[in-house]
Amino acid sequence: MRKKIVAGNWKMNMNLEEGKTLVEGVLEGLPALSENKQVVLAPPFIHLASIGEQLTGKHHIHLGAQNCSYEGSGAYTGEISASMVKSTGAEYVILGHSERREYFKEDHAMLVKKINLVLENKMQVIFCCGEPLEIRDADTQNAYVQEQISAELFHLDATQLKNVVIAYEPIWAIGTGRTASAQQAQDMHAHIRSVIAAKYGQDAANDMTILYGGSCKPSNAAELFGCPDVDGGLIGGASLKAEEFLGIVNAM
Ligand code: PGA
Repeated sequence: MRKKIVAGNWKMNMNLEEGKTLVEGVLEGLPALSENKQVVLAPPFIHLASIGEQLTGKHHIHLGAQNCSYEGSGAYTGEISASMVKSTGAEYVILGHSERREYFKEDHAMLVKKINLVLENKMQVIFCCGEPLEIRDADTQNAYVQEQISAELFHLDATQLKNVVIAYEPIWAIGTGRTASAQQAQDMHAHIRSVIAAKYGQDAANDMTILYGGSCKPSNAAELFGCPDVDGGLIGGASLKAEEFLGIVNAM
């Protein structure tokens, strides 16, 4: 059975004390989850080690980073390497988020390097893809997302791909309050699964966890997660309040 995940991407929010309080609230309310379900928390880099300690020994809840450098180590002032992230106890790294693509000019070549470093460091990639509004309006979103996946993931072999989770995040739905409809999400997730099947075979596609992200909230999570190809969510704004985040976890 493929893995289901609800992951909280805190983005550049929460100082350390606020973050720890949020984690306490999440841990207090976390429901018992079946074996194939996981919760991931992705705080800012600087909180990883302390939040990692809070999560030690907690079943079904895992630590993730929001990014890492495309270089392995060396004279890159201010950068954080994949191996540093790994040393905090993190198991996941979000890569290819549209905010990083847009504001920090991350391109295919950089993302390929980052993905390789995360996998070399024995962590899992949460790979974000998704189209801007003008592409959706032109109804060319399938080709757009397919191009992101083929340019940035298709260098991986089938074994490496097992450590990748895909997050479909239509840019027009991120932080806008405008969620993709369950049908739009399902259609794209099924498309992504068919893209994976064409390259890696149907078994690999069936095993691929594909998350939806973009204004996911307790009120729409159950409908989105009820779609056959939607395996959970990558949650921004609603991951910053324990009650809201737990409402989404409960919908999984
Ligand atoms: P949002 O962000 O839930 O605030 O729309 C999702 C994301 O960017 O991962």
